[in-house]
Amino acid sequence: MTIPTQQKALLLPEPHAPFVVRTVDVYKPEAGEVLVRVEATALNPVDWKIQAWNFLVDEYPAVVGTDITGTVVELGEGVTNVAVGDKIVWQGWFANRLASFQQYTIAKVDRVAKIPPSVSFEQAATIPVGAAAAYVGLYGIKQKEGGANLTPSWIEGGRGNYTGQPIVIFGGSSSVGQYAIQFAKLSGFSPIITTASPRNYDHVKSLGATHTINRSLSPSDIVAEVKKITSEPVQIVYDAISEEDTQNTAYDILAPGGTVVITLAQNVAQEKIGKDKSIIHTLGNVHIEHNHALGVGFFSHLTEYLASGDIKPNQFELVPGGLEAIPKGLERLRNGEVSARKLVVNPNETV
Ligand SMILES: NC(=O)c1ccc[n+]([C@@H]2O[C@H](COP(=O)([O-])OP(=O)(O)OC[C@H]3O[C@@H](n4cnc5c(N)ncnc54)[C@H](OP(=O)(O)O)[C@@H]3O)[C@@H](O)[C@H]2O)c1
Repeated sequence: MTIPTQQKALLLPEPHAPFVVRTVDVYKPEAGEVLVRVEATALNPVDWKIQAWNFLVDEYPAVVGTDITGTVVELGEGVTNVAVGDKIVWQGWFANRLASFQQYTIAKVDRVAKIPPSVSFEQAATIPVGAAAAYVGLYGIKQKEGGANLTPSWIEGGRGNYTGQPIVIFGGSSSVGQYAIQFAKLSGFSPIITTASPRNYDHVKSLGATHTINRSLSPSDIVAEVKKITSEPVQIVYDAISEEDTQNTAYDILAPGGTVVITLAQNVAQEKIGKDKSIIHTLGNVHIEHNHALGVGFFSHLTEYLASGDIKPNQFELVPGGLEAIPKGLERLRNGEVSARKLVVNPNETV
């Protein structure tokens, strides 16, 4: 396959500016990297938040997007674990040569997985960001932008390690919540209690949730429902939504000595906060140094997790139109119009 020298990319020309499709150079892979033709990228809330709030990006014009699958087209020096033509999935970073809203991008090969034949590019593209928020939040070291320090499901003794312990997951039908349910199941938690809209109960149960609670109930009713389901102390609460009300309800449910993992900035009422409960704001990206090892562990097991069905990708909607279609998709995410699925785009459909 001939590799072009130029490609189409969706650029943020400057902070807060509208996205535009432009022609940019195709990158050269360095040692430990590969150049990949992007076959599918999923959209995430962080992508519109970067445009609206100007964070996580250091240089403009900027390319964003971090849920990526594609076909390897060129190897950097020393790369032996993947070959030209391999179909891979990985998590990008908000730096132009590592981001996904473009036709070709760079992957660091110590944190990639080959996609098994049973899984499509579109399905696999739903995994990296949502799963990272879940596994870093649960298994990351207990520090800012880390996690609850549980034993990862993929290391010796990790699978089933928390058998019989309850976990509560706010937002089980969100992308992050769906992966948190699946890691909770692999780790042995039971019951796995989650909040969602009733239309998504069957889906979250198919992933491993044992009990569902209507996410529209009042905070005190959600606390009461959890108490009806388990009398055990809830040591781990994962709040995939992390709005003010879910964080405060999550904190109320948490038992002394426990950890609540949140995915957005902390918003628990100051007067509630005591020394005996930990709050960890996770940052699920494998390019952050303290998450590298977890990323390597997860991606080295992802192919088998997918082949066995232990990890099921999110449902997806393929949005036609290539890169041009991304801003409208991000608007739908921003408006809360997407339920229990990821929006996925193929940048090579761009005309
Ligand atoms: N810190 C990190 O590393 C990190 C990583 C990824 C995402 N995030 C953040 O985490 C949040 C979730 O991201 P995502 O990609 O998973 O979102 P998403 O899939 O787009 O979220 C949509 C889902 O949220 C559910 N939802 C909305 N409000 C809810 C509530 N009050 N209670 C329960 N469920 C609720 C909806 O459920 P129903 O349709 O069932 O009502 C819907 O399925 C976003 O704010 C995102 O920015 C953080």
